[in-house]
Formats: sequence, structure tokens, C-alpha cells
Amino acid sequence: MNEPDFTSLRRQQFRRYFQPSRVLLGIFPAPVPSGFNIITLCFSMYCSYRPPMMAVAINDRSSTWDLINSAEEFVLSVPGPALVDLSMKCGIESMRQIDKITELQLELVQSKTVAVPGLLRAIANVELRKSTLVQTGDHAILVGEVLRFAVNTSTKEQPLLSIGPFTDGYDLLQKKGVHRLAVVGPSDISTDIEHNAP
Ligand SMILES: Cc1cc2nc3c(=O)[nH]c(=O)nc-3n(C[C@H](O)[C@H](O)[C@H](O)COP(=O)(O)O)c2cc1C
Repeated sequence: MNEPDFTSLRRQQFRRYFQPSRVLLGIFPAPVPSGFNIITLCFSMYCSYRPPMMAVAINDRSSTWDLINSAEEFVLSVPGPALVDLSMKCGIESMRQIDKITELQLELVQSKTVAVPGLLRAIANVELRKSTLVQTGDHAILVGEVLRFAVNTSTKEQPLLSIGPFTDGYDLLQKKGVHRLAVVGPSDISTDIEHNAP
């Protein structure tokens, strides 16, 4: 049997083979009139079952970087296609220029376990308490304990994905620069959702 030839690629080229990533909207307390900033994130993971914990990576060039030291709580919102414009804008615009919640006229929903609100039109809002902050290269990994998975179980939307240049098998919804937001396509959403599945 022929052995495959492994080619050395740079990080950007590797994206084509390492896609997709899930898209999240991180909401953090912020010194702007609305009281909160929103940042689009695709570096995310679960990092514990008991207690349930999740982690995201925040770039040191973002204004959110300046917020994560003092933040005690935050929300990770799960956007579907209804929030595709917002997800792109919050991934390009910075709090240094605009108060995103006010200018993009975002509809918020009160959280039950934290003082940070979620997004009314999201598929889900995950409420977290900050646990650890780990400095990496040009990012910091922010780890939070999940206090509540608040899910809009009536929606049939699929979660947005961030994909690379290989778009086969996806519905590409929006592209700006290197950023492509998509859902798995063609849309064939099962209504038989198992809420207890692992
Ligand atoms: C699809 C997508 C995914 C992104 N993922 C991340 C991420 O995981 N971490 C990060 O720090 N920035 C990420 N960004 C970039 C930030 O969202 C962007 O720099 C934003 O303007 C920062 O806003 P802020 O300055 O208000 O914090 C992403 C952008 C897009 C469009």
C-alpha cells in the first residue's frame, strides 16, 4: 500500500483541513453606555464535565482583552442564521470604536444565574462564572464554569460555523475577508432532537 505524502503547511493553509469551528458570541461587562461588549469567537472548547466548564481564547489586540481580567461572569451565546449579520459585525467592529449593543440595536434577555444578559435571538445562552485565565501566545484562554445552559428549544435553526476556503457541504451565508460564516447544508433539520444525548 502506498504511504501518503504529508506536506508542510502554514497555519492559514491548514485551515482548509481543520474546519469547521463553532461560532460563539461572548458577552462581557464593559465601560460603555450599554454596559456590555460582544465579541465573535471561534476558539472554544469544553474543558470539564464535572463541573461543566468551557474555555474560549481571546486575542490580545481585541478590546475584550482589556475586559477579561476584571470580568467575574460572562455569557457565551450560540448564534444561528438569524444572527449572521451580527456575528460578522461583532467579529470586525471593536468596542474601541462603537458600543456594539447600542449601535447594532441588539435585543437582550436577562440571565438567571449571572448579571450579564444573553441575546434574545440566539439559539442558546450559556451563563458562566469565570474560573481561570491562562496566558498563551497572543491569546489568553478564559475558562468559565457553566451555571446554566439557557436554550430556546422552539428554534429549528442550526448553529453558525466558521469555515475555511473549502465550502462543499455547507451553506455559506456570509463572507468578509478570511471570515466565512456557514451552516451545515443543505438544510435538513431533524425535529427529533434528543435533549439528553451526550
Ligand atoms: C468568525 C470569527 C471568529 C473569531 N474568533 C475569534 C476568537 O476566537 N478569539 C478572538 O480573540 N477573536 C476572534 N475573532 C475576532 C474578534 O471577534 C474581533 O477582533 C473583534 O472585532 C474584537 O472586538 P473587540 O475589540 O470589541 O473585543 C473572530 C472573528 C470572526 C469574524
